[in-house]
Amino acid sequence: MMKNIYQPVEAVIENIIQETSAIKTFTLKPKTDFSFVTGQFIELTVPGLGEAPFTPSSDPGIKERMDVTIMKTGAVTSKLHEMQKGQVVGIRGPFGKGYPLHKFKGKDLLIVGGGVGLAPLRSLLFSLFSTIDNYNKVLLRYGSRTANDIVYKGSIGEWAKRDKFDIVTSVDIGDPSWQGNVGLVTTILKDMPIDLNNASAIVCGPPIMMKFVTLKLLDLGFKPKDIYLSMEKSMSCGLGKCGHCRLGKFYICKDGPVFTYEELKDIHDIWD
Ligand SMILES: Cc1cc2nc3c(=O)[nH]c(=O)nc-3n(C[C@H](O)[C@H](O)[C@H](O)COP(=O)(O)OP(=O)(O)OC[C@H]3O[C@@H](n4cnc5c(N)ncnc54)[C@H](O)[C@@H]3O)c2cc1C
Ligand code: FES
Repeated sequence: MMKNIYQPVEAVIENIIQETSAIKTFTLKPKTDFSFVTGQFIELTVPGLGEAPFTPSSDPGIKERMDVTIMKTGAVTSKLHEMQKGQVVGIRGPFGKGYPLHKFKGKDLLIVGGGVGLAPLRSLLFSLFSTIDNYNKVLLRYGSRTANDIVYKGSIGEWAKRDKFDIVTSVDIGDPSWQGNVGLVTTILKDMPIDLNNASAIVCGPPIMMKFVTLKLLDLGFKPKDIYLSMEKSMSCGLGKCGHCRLGKFYICKDGPVFTYEELKDIHDIWD
């Protein structure tokens, strides 16, 4: 039988991790196995309220469970943050195009995340862990507002111990408990052991962060075609039909959410 992508699949909330005061990771167990490619997104339905788009943050190799890491911003996300283990939500999708892993083969990868933008990048990292022989090296540069706003705190140190991985973090505002770098994420985009002639950069975070990281990467010598951005806009259908997510000639839901800067650079309102 053909899958109806308008029809959500029921998924039980199996676990909830409080990442920061405003961000939780929910482990969902769908009624039937659910496949996605890293970087694709789903529409998550809160019964009786509505739905919102999120990018799974878990390993795409795992079909029977999925993590979504969600920041509380408005109606749907606030309700989700009140939900408990055992309650049921709906998921439909996956939608859009994910990260083109085949184009990253043999390259140095620079992954730059800001705040909850590390969620899709965690799913990307899981994909890279299992295929690491395909890549030269992976640099992760992650920035959050304060030390209390860092997501996946327990995991970042473990990821840094992996062969070929080089991870640096920074917080915008330091405090006595924080011994690491202080400054916007752009301040740690320096002295990087990376071959610019054979590198791709992958960026995900709030629009203002993506704007300044992209400008910094261009300044460092990255070509627009080698900078991959995960774009966000309000969505409705998720299928390129309603026009809500229009960005220039593109629909983010169908043509993205991952784009190269080369594709977007002539659109005047890309960071709005
Ligand atoms: C492809 C895609 C993937 C996403 N992945 C994640 C994720 O993994 N984790 C996560 O926490 N969030 C993610 N988001 C953002 C998430 O969809 C919004 O935070 C959510 O839709 C807000 O819904 P709400 O009902 O709680 O807020 P609303 O009540 O709709 O709005 C609250 C506030 O958030 C703003 N807002 C609403 N939707 C968006 C949006 N899509 N982008 C930016 N601002 C918005 C509104 O302007 C308003 O100021 C993603 C968005 C897209 C488009
Ligand atoms: S959400 Fe409807 S066209 Fe993209």
